[in-house]
Amino acid sequence: MATLRGGFRALPWANQLLAYQRASWKCASCKVAGSAAFRSARRYTTTSEGASSKPYYVTTPIFYVNAAPHVGHLYSMVIADVLKRWRTLLGDNNVQLLTGTDEHGMKIQQAASAAGMDTQAFCDMNCKTFQDLAKAAEVDYNHFIRTTDPAHKEAVQYFWEMLQHRGYIYTAKHEGWYSVSDETFYPQSQVHLSLDPATGEKRMVSIETGKEVEWSSETNYHFRLSAFQDRLLELYKTGFIAPSHYRHSVVKAVSSGLSDLSISRPAERLTWGISVPGDNTQTIYVWLDALVNYLTKAGYPFPPGEGARLGWPADVHVVGKDIVRFHCVYWPAFLMALDLPLPRNVLVHGHWTMNREKMSKSTGNVVNPFFAIDRFGVDVMRFFLTYQGGFTSDADYDNAHIIRDYRKYLQQGIGNAAHRSIGCAGGNLRTYIVNATAGNSPATPEDQAYQSMLEQLPTKVEEHMEKLNPRDALQDIVRATLKTTKYFHNSAPWKDPEQRQRVLFNMAEAMRITGILLQPFMPNKAKEVLDLFRVDTSKRNFSAARYASDPDYGEGVEKKILFPPLLVEE
Ligand code: MSP
Repeated sequence: MATLRGGFRALPWANQLLAYQRASWKCASCKVAGSAAFRSARRYTTTSEGASSKPYYVTTPIFYVNAAPHVGHLYSMVIADVLKRWRTLLGDNNVQLLTGTDEHGMKIQQAASAAGMDTQAFCDMNCKTFQDLAKAAEVDYNHFIRTTDPAHKEAVQYFWEMLQHRGYIYTAKHEGWYSVSDETFYPQSQVHLSLDPATGEKRMVSIETGKEVEWSSETNYHFRLSAFQDRLLELYKTGFIAPSHYRHSVVKAVSSGLSDLSISRPAERLTWGISVPGDNTQTIYVWLDALVNYLTKAGYPFPPGEGARLGWPADVHVVGKDIVRFHCVYWPAFLMALDLPLPRNVLVHGHWTMNREKMSKSTGNVVNPFFAIDRFGVDVMRFFLTYQGGFTSDADYDNAHIIRDYRKYLQQGIGNAAHRSIGCAGGNLRTYIVNATAGNSPATPEDQAYQSMLEQLPTKVEEHMEKLNPRDALQDIVRATLKTTKYFHNSAPWKDPEQRQRVLFNMAEAMRITGILLQPFMPNKAKEVLDLFRVDTSKRNFSAARYASDPDYGEGVEKKILFPPLLVEE
């Protein structure tokens, strides 16, 4: 193994950046903005050009290209996209969403070789399916990163050199159990012998994931993770990990002690990766490589003082619960080592299961997301995944549940309310809107109670979104639409022309307000609702979701079936 080097390659900004970081450094954890700061971020500071000084920056995990995407991957993408679109709805016109593919590592190397393909060609082929999925799911990403991109390789090598320069990397012999599937080492205490039901053979597996591990004994580079225990524990006191449900187990694991982390593999074992700068006998550990993708997109290494303008730190990293350790322990520790600002939130979601077992390629119980989108439509899939997917618990996937929810919440909810109110207005919906906004429609106590529910809805939804909880936000919107059909039914506006005035105005307001709020979740259906009610495109942002705030819509509204019967077999 070559000795460690302190020198830099001639990368732009290298020495200036180092000087800048030294001069400006404050305790990194002091720079972390917790949920309170996230909340206040709603009042954007916009420059004269109309752009926020720092883009709001959301990321998905980058997806391994060893296999085709499944519905679990789609879920991570949709949640991140909903967060982006929500922020845009609030009026922020400088929002960045990053997604992409994780293409290095033993797992990809082995998958390409098993497919008998050149590794880069294999990555190109599978990366394309993730790009296709993002398009099919209407994920409005700004950049699709690949870890095989040359700019990313440069960023990773630079990141490594900075860690090395600051004395956080050393060489040592490493022994442990490595799981190729999880791309991680496990200590002895975290593996056990298990019987493989398929072969009847005993094999060592990770206790946490059940994935097979192999013994490895090698000399490689280590990162001084143990030096960051106290600062990590401080960090967890902020709103860094959302929901807080996951904080406890992370705090427990970090409190019990952190071992230094092996961050390279001998090149004779792992060729498919980024070489350690100055030592091509070693390849950089795939997770160090992968995590840096979030910085690469923001233009790392940053020109001095430019990090925030370019987007760093990320506002939200969306991740599944299986990759919490990498994002909540390793990633902030790497960043702390370089005094880089820390991401504001890591938003953790649960898993999609099939028959209560995690949907995963290695188990084979996966749902092809392209088939699901073709079958049910992109908005219905986005709706179902967001509505039923869990943050603190897992959710079981079943086509019958999608059909049930479609009928119960979409057809009988907003679809029915739109249809019936337009029908009852008999082509005069606009007149009801004009009369009510002119103050000519008296309201009964029932109308007032319903109106107050509509008035509160945007704030309730906003509060959930500020807590990074799109599921509860969507559930509140759906509850409001169900209350709307009940209100219509109980008020029986078709019987009494006097009462019809207020009820039909409230119904129109319900469609307009829920249509606006649904845009981040179901962009196409929400547009259909707003088009149907002739809501001007300039009045579809969050501030327009206020009750009675738009006197101008509703001209020439005609009946339309928003949620037709599904052409599917059950
Ligand atoms: N490549 C790493 C992430 C690196 S991020 C710097 C990885 N890739 S993955 O393809 O295995 O998983 C990508 C995302 O999909 C993760 O957030 C993971 O939790 C999520 N899911 C994978 N299977 C899932 C389910 N069955 N259900 C929900 N999400 C799941 O990990």
